[in-house]
Amino acid sequence: MVNKRWTAVAAGILLIIFAGVLAALFPNIMEILINREVSIREGGRAYGWWKEPPVVPHMNIYIYNVTNADEFLNNGDKPILQELGPYVYLQKWDKTNIKFNDNGTVSYNVRKRFEFSEELSSGSEDDLVVVPNVPMLSATSQSRHAARFLRLAMASIMDILKIKPFVEVSVGQLLWGYEDPLLKLAKDVVPKEQKLPYDQFGLLYGKNGTHPDQYTIFTGASDISKYGMMDRWNGKDGFKHWTTDECDNVLGGDGSIFPPHINKDSKLKVFDKDLCRTLPLVFKEEVMAEGDVPGYRFVPPKDVFAAADRISSQSCYCPAGPPCAPEGTFNVSRCQYDSPVLLSFPHFYLADPTLREAVIGISPPNEEKHQFFIDVQPLMGTTLRARARIQINLAVSQVRDIKQVASFPDIVFPIMWFEDGVDGLPSHVTSLLKMAVDVPPIARAALSGALAAAGAIVLLGALLCLARAAKHQEKLHLSTPLPPGASKQGNINPGFQGSMK
Ligand SMILES: *[C@@H]1O[C@H](CO)[C@@H](O)[C@H](O)[C@H]1NC(C)=O
Ligand SMILES: *[C@@H]1O[C@H](CO)[C@@H](O)[C@H](O)[C@H]1NC(C)=O
Ligand SMILES: *[C@@H]1O[C@H](CO)[C@@H](O)[C@H](O)[C@H]1NC(C)=O
Ligand SMILES: *[C@@H]1O[C@H](CO)[C@@H](O)[C@H](O)[C@H]1NC(C)=O
Repeated sequence: MVNKRWTAVAAGILLIIFAGVLAALFPNIMEILINREVSIREGGRAYGWWKEPPVVPHMNIYIYNVTNADEFLNNGDKPILQELGPYVYLQKWDKTNIKFNDNGTVSYNVRKRFEFSEELSSGSEDDLVVVPNVPMLSATSQSRHAARFLRLAMASIMDILKIKPFVEVSVGQLLWGYEDPLLKLAKDVVPKEQKLPYDQFGLLYGKNGTHPDQYTIFTGASDISKYGMMDRWNGKDGFKHWTTDECDNVLGGDGSIFPPHINKDSKLKVFDKDLCRTLPLVFKEEVMAEGDVPGYRFVPPKDVFAAADRISSQSCYCPAGPPCAPEGTFNVSRCQYDSPVLLSFPHFYLADPTLREAVIGISPPNEEKHQFFIDVQPLMGTTLRARARIQINLAVSQVRDIKQVASFPDIVFPIMWFEDGVDGLPSHVTSLLKMAVDVPPIARAALSGALAAAGAIVLLGALLCLARAAKHQEKLHLSTPLPPGASKQGNINPGFQGSMK
């Protein structure tokens, strides 16, 4: 009998110790579970969401309509811009041609479908806008280093084709493409290897549908610290545009998932094909996303588009050497068929204020409206809310030999800006995320609490029984006559010791 009670005491103590160990190891156990849960595996829960994100991303587009094109060209007035929009497109994203590789990566193509939303937009796709003629001004700006006779030849061709520095097109055409006489000509005459891939010009041309780019990302199965990060882009590990590996490499997430276990010191990276680089993101503040899921807001650091002459580490993005892009702009000419395109944040947020003051009609930038941000759920690395905000500008160079553009001064001309956003995950996802955040501490407390309580009860019960047994034995001993000199205590103790052997 006594023997069993001692076993119970031991079991109770063991249970309490086990509860303590479980409480201590719980975070590690959770980490292993989370890593397993998020990694991209066929049949895994995350796989379905990754393949076909259960969100409706919207793209809000704002176009700068030029209202004084003639006065700008003829009198040298500052351009007056009218910000039109938003023109809203609802999107559906999914991944096709998915192929798992042996080395913990998966390759795929991205398919995006855009649907114009009449009710969310303030304006129609048929609105007529006046914007700089991007193909023409790209060609003239590029020609400034060419031989003079080429520029003169260009001028006569543009005369014959009646090409003007501003075009009036519908919003739909500007975005999705219109036939451009210059591109058409270029397509027919330029040698095959320098050929532009199309004869249409549109700011989002070719983006509706399956994109030919092949992405290869890490699934997280072998190394969770690279989960969702780009391994290869079209088979290459770099953009092959920038001068250092650090600036050139494609290792960044697609913006929807990041390696889990993010903290406030983490540096996230987003691969952005249109930006031709990865965009670093740093912690800004704690936020509460839809469905009461707490998240961290990550934003690009303030000097992300700093001028190379201010921050020397930026010079890797200026391979042609000084002069480099002005403060707050990023030169993507190399990956836009040498068009002089400079990207910035909307309203020239964080950029040299003189850029904004060179035109009339762009209000001062506002962090709330114009900052690029991503809110992530830090434990799982899932994006809860995002606004990828970028403005497209054309860096026009004055070329006096070409009479059509002779009066078009050197200027960074804003064309449009857009925000690609995800506002909230569907409630079945947020409730799961919320559970992932809330449940572990509760589960940890509950599980180790229950174990400890069970241990305590067993221990207490055993001790009580032992105490009662001791009393019982004491009574037994009392009822038998004591040998002289032996204390009560002395008689009990041998009994106990005996039972312990
Ligand atoms: C854009 O500006 C032009 C004047 O340059 C004007 O005729 C046109 O109505 C404007 N477009 C819209 C949609 O307001
Ligand atoms: C993984 O395999 C794919 C396909 O074979 C290959 O393109 C990629 O370079 C490999 N990545 C690494 C890190 O070895
Ligand atoms: C995109 O393509 C789909 C069909 O594939 C079409 O229904 C839709 O209208 C297109 N969107 C735009 C903006 O052209
Ligand atoms: C942008 O980059 C291209 C090619 O690297 C270069 O020729 C051009 O001068 C640059 N533009 C600016 C404004 O820095």
